[in-house]
Amino acid sequence: MPQDSPQILVNDAAGVARAAALLRAGALVALPTETVYGLAADARNDRAVARIFEAKGRPRFNPLIVHLTSLAEVEALADLPGPARDLAAAFWPGPLTMVLPLRAGHGLSPLVSAGLSTVAVRLPRHPAMRAVLAAFGGPVAAPSANRSGKISATTAAHVIEGLGDRIAAVLDGGAAAVGVESTILAPSDTGTRLLREGGLPREMIEPLTGPLLVDTTPGRVEAPGQLSSHYAPATPLRMGGTAAAGDVVIGFGSVGGDLNLSPAGDPVEAAANLFAMLHEADTLARARGAACIRVVDIPDTGLGRAINDRLRRAAAPRP
Ligand code: TXA
Ligand code: MG
Repeated sequence: MPQDSPQILVNDAAGVARAAALLRAGALVALPTETVYGLAADARNDRAVARIFEAKGRPRFNPLIVHLTSLAEVEALADLPGPARDLAAAFWPGPLTMVLPLRAGHGLSPLVSAGLSTVAVRLPRHPAMRAVLAAFGGPVAAPSANRSGKISATTAAHVIEGLGDRIAAVLDGGAAAVGVESTILAPSDTGTRLLREGGLPREMIEPLTGPLLVDTTPGRVEAPGQLSSHYAPATPLRMGGTAAAGDVVIGFGSVGGDLNLSPAGDPVEAAANLFAMLHEADTLARARGAACIRVVDIPDTGLGRAINDRLRRAAAPRP
């Protein structure tokens, strides 16, 4: 249902009801979550799900995350092997996605899981997203609300900038609090794989799962944000090194720049600012004719790992 400009829905009862009605009608609606904005559609409607791929310009082999509001709904779709139940109890609702074996009769469009026998599921925490899910009453497929390979959207304005002509509406739930996508785990009876670093730091997970098997290799395509070039601004991005005259510099902590992800050196604040500052740096680079956006070194612990993962992909050679 592409149109010239999307409806901007206010986060109130009427806005939530309208978003749910549009989902029911098979339309695309961008919805706020605590991680990033999602490009949402009815996960049981083949045509609606196909529109997601069309709008994002996304390669078809990439499966989508299904968003729900309760563990009972998850159990109707999928099995919960190994530590899955403990992880759900500890971290849902929140920035955790679990890849789980699909159950027979799940009712999802096969496009959602791209024909795999597993499905990625998440219970988001953002109250507006939860309200829409409750009003809609079914599973909602939602990848991040950006065009394929581009910077993820953490505000309604980013969504409109990237996808404005391709969606029916966006529900404005303010700036995303976490700012990087969910952490993706594949729990099993024999060990838990980490498929994507994200908003839930590894240090909080391993007490429940034991050591994670890290499976986030860029360039390998089963997985998430897995394309080696991803999250990319239009201007080439480099990590660390020495800035040349004219480069747009994104700083961290005491190492300043044109922008600073967190003057206090707090990785949580830096994650929340990351995508908005990549958008801003891109605008600045274009205005200035800069050849390069340079990001200073970020410590590789806690959410710093998810930030560095996104930066490595943003800096990777473009296909
Ligand atoms: O925070 C988030 O996770 C956001 C918000 C909107 O919830 N969503 C998001 O979706 O980041 P997306 O589509 O951009 O990333 C989902 C990733 C994809 O890279 C996909 O490869 C992986 O999850 N994925 C989905 N289903 C999978 C499966 N069955 N097995 C392995 N990976 C899967
Ligand atoms: Mg994405």
